[in-house]
Amino acid sequence: MAELFNKQAKNYAETRPSYPADLFQFIASKTPVHDLAWDAGTGSGQAAQSIAEIYKNVVATDTSQQQLEFAPKLPNVRYQQTPPNMSIVELERDVTAHGTVDLVTVAQAFHWFDLPTFYQQVNLVLKRPNGVIAVWCYIEPEVNESVDAVFWRLYNGSAPYWASARKMVDDKYRSVYFPFEPVEGKDSTGPFEFETSRSMDLNDYFTYIRSWSAYQTACEKGVELLSDDVVKDFERAWGEDGNNRKVVRYPIFLRIGKIGN
Ligand SMILES: C[S@@+](CC[C@H](N)C(=O)[O-])C[C@H]1O[C@@H](n2cnc3c(N)ncnc32)[C@H](O)[C@@H]1O
Repeated sequence: MAELFNKQAKNYAETRPSYPADLFQFIASKTPVHDLAWDAGTGSGQAAQSIAEIYKNVVATDTSQQQLEFAPKLPNVRYQQTPPNMSIVELERDVTAHGTVDLVTVAQAFHWFDLPTFYQQVNLVLKRPNGVIAVWCYIEPEVNESVDAVFWRLYNGSAPYWASARKMVDDKYRSVYFPFEPVEGKDSTGPFEFETSRSMDLNDYFTYIRSWSAYQTACEKGVELLSDDVVKDFERAWGEDGNNRKVVRYPIFLRIGKIGN
């Protein structure tokens, strides 16, 4: 699964959204100490760079070295490539030691992980009892009625090329097993809703679609999801309001919990 993200790392870095300040403020308000965060599946650092503004140090890991190469270099962020099936020895040697982490984050990558293994790792590195895990996904983009209608035809047609784990995103992480305690002031672990957006022209929007793992899988099977007809439909829909640049919005769904005793 991890290799799906290698080839389109540049597209990914150029067009994937970053995340809003209110999401990070909410998460950070739930950890009493802001010393160390682990951003797993960091990609090109979309979340790590914002976490680094709040936490003294961030270790940001990904299985894809290609993704990490596009991440911003920051003095308090250490990027580390990790194997898909990281052992506990590798975790403690390359990521961080037992009981040292205030916050674990996973942005738009949790559905790709082997969850029993990941939960074991999280349980090992989080500080007890107040260490927090925050995982979120964003769902399909929203532009306007005309563009979204073309998008949904394309998205529905892309269904055979998504890995089955991706269904967790369509489910907004609602039913995933998440064995953590609600954080201060909340009576559940979510999902809690936020929103992010990015200004794009049509080329950016196409580059975003090309950054999908499903786009790459379809290409490998000889299928071009952005066929000439689909591109023409998008051009027509995008041009309707006369604005070349548009705000593309993505609803975000957050699960958050603390480890407890
Ligand atoms: C959709 S991207 C998300 C990147 C970034 N966190 C973001 O918010 O845009 C998913 C990332 O998870 C990484 N990934 C997939 N499986 C992984 C695993 N088992 N361990 C660590 N990273 C993994 C991929 O290489 C990819 O960079």
